[in-house]
Amino acid sequence: MNVLLDALHPYPFEKLRALFADLKPASSQAHIALSIGEPRHASPPFVLETLAANLPLLANYPATRGEAVLRETIADWLRRRFHLQSVNAECEVLPVNGTREALFAFAQAVVTAGPGAAVVSPNPFYQIYEGAALLAGAQPEFVNATASSGHLPDFAAVPASVWERCQLLYICTPGNPSGAVMSIEQLQTLVALAEHHDFIIASDECYSEIYSDEANPPPGLLQACALMGNDRFKRCVVFHSLSKRSNLPGLRSGFVAGDATVLAEFLRYRTYHGCAMPLHHQHASVAAWNDEEHVRANRAQYRQKFDAVLPILQGHLQMERPDAGFYLWPETPVADTEFARQLYQQAHVTVVPGSFLARETAAGNPGSRRVRMALVASLEDCVEAAERMVRVIEQL
Ligand SMILES: Cc1ncc(COP(=O)(O)O)c(C=O)c1O
Repeated sequence: MNVLLDALHPYPFEKLRALFADLKPASSQAHIALSIGEPRHASPPFVLETLAANLPLLANYPATRGEAVLRETIADWLRRRFHLQSVNAECEVLPVNGTREALFAFAQAVVTAGPGAAVVSPNPFYQIYEGAALLAGAQPEFVNATASSGHLPDFAAVPASVWERCQLLYICTPGNPSGAVMSIEQLQTLVALAEHHDFIIASDECYSEIYSDEANPPPGLLQACALMGNDRFKRCVVFHSLSKRSNLPGLRSGFVAGDATVLAEFLRYRTYHGCAMPLHHQHASVAAWNDEEHVRANRAQYRQKFDAVLPILQGHLQMERPDAGFYLWPETPVADTEFARQLYQQAHVTVVPGSFLARETAAGNPGSRRVRMALVASLEDCVEAAERMVRVIEQL
């Protein structure tokens, strides 16, 4: 067996099961899960219709590069959304089966394994970054994101020696779990660092379409590149998805876009890996990327939930309304694991302890004393969960 597999950590949901293994919820109230970030608003019917109408295409093998119509639709979407002059659908866009597999596969394609190899990741972080680094034969180097750095990784604290070993930097903007958004200037600082130390930036932007201010959508890495004259996105690749934007987590549809040289190598890797997107999924994706109305309606639903839940919890838990994403990331009155246990046992509500989403560092675990709550359940369930939570907090 591949010995590197032994280095993988149990996934947070496995840790959660173990944390609750000896507990039996005291109440008979229905379980409310705020733990998994799985979107639960309705998928757009017109996308499902397009999917069904294209079922006969199952008779054909899809190409790893994807159909031209999908790549062109994505290039147009990127141009509109991030005010880009040009995106070349031929060589700067590649469909992927959701960002999860792509974020993982990307490290396998771009990292050269070796004792000094480093992959830099935020902390807390989406767990795939670490697993991808480890299985690519690199050392993950974590950069803490705490309240004092605006919940963004404190990249200024990273020593030059780490940047020198860095082959790949993962960033997540808007961030999971905090929803913090990196500014154009912060992104440009990283692009300059990548140029100076010659590493690649993988920007996970799968929450970019879930934001609170309609007039102020989160910027992206390609936009930051173009604004600094790096209009061919050298060393930069972004990862986008229909899972959160369009409530299609089961479609497994996303894309990567950016530096054509990097994407050519990634395509070579993917051709061998064998992960082409089925043709009916590609056509359904075209329909989804071409429509913004359902995305605006989706954002409105999340806004409604934040509007309803925040006033219930404020005064009981310390937290801010996130700029983007669908998570709350409050401080906990007791240890995060203990708080999660109490909520499960007394209120039958599941949240993820923040320490499960981060790694221990010299400065401690930046996720400890926080929990992640995904407002993915219905409005009524989110409100009910918040009210139950308040009753638990009052008894602590
Ligand atoms: C930060 C982040 N990146 C990537 C993903 C993967 O999403 P998908 O593979 O559905 O595009 C998730 C899913 O929860 C996520 O939270």
